Amino acid sequence: MKIGIYPGSFDPVTKGHLDIIRRSSKMVDVLIVAVLKNNSKSPLFSVEERVSMLKEVTKDISNVQIDSFSGLLVDYARKNNASIIVRGLRAVTDFEYELQMSQTNRIMDSDVDTIFLTTSLEYAYLSSSTVKEVAMYGGDVSKFVPEYVADKINDKIKTLNIS
Ligand code: PNS
Repeated sequence: MKIGIYPGSFDPVTKGHLDIIRRSSKMVDVLIVAVLKNNSKSPLFSVEERVSMLKEVTKDISNVQIDSFSGLLVDYARKNNASIIVRGLRAVTDFEYELQMSQTNRIMDSDVDTIFLTTSLEYAYLSSSTVKEVAMYGGDVSKFVPEYVADKINDKIKTLNIS
């Protein structure tokens, strides 16, 4: 059984993330999409909200599970018998950070390999931060995130009263 982990902040999940989830889920028996807890970045959504949005937008993909984790990714991978870490690469600017992370992880646990999927061109520009910025200034984010997530972003911004 080949188990893969797609880790990230997912604050919130974008169409770019979903593209990586769909494609990588075909390469493994089970794909665990894992939201990092205790991230130093100040998030728009709580971990529970991010997990819940991910569950909703991936509910049609049968071998995808949504979870959250804290601590080292390699420890979480080992605990879940995962041998593959999936990451998306959008542009060359992602490369240095991703290389550093995958090499660090590999030194810590040589049984876990990171595979990189190049993001589909239509999403190559997309990031959760850009989506949040567009939304905060009242822009339409429905091109960037699933409709369900767009509604959640708009609700959140209304409750924060920052639009
Ligand atoms: O979506 P992000 O914020 O780019 O995801 C980063 C993530 C969650 C993959 C990374 O921060 C991570 O794996 N954190 C867990 C801590 C860890 O294992 N660090 C060592 C690798 S450098």
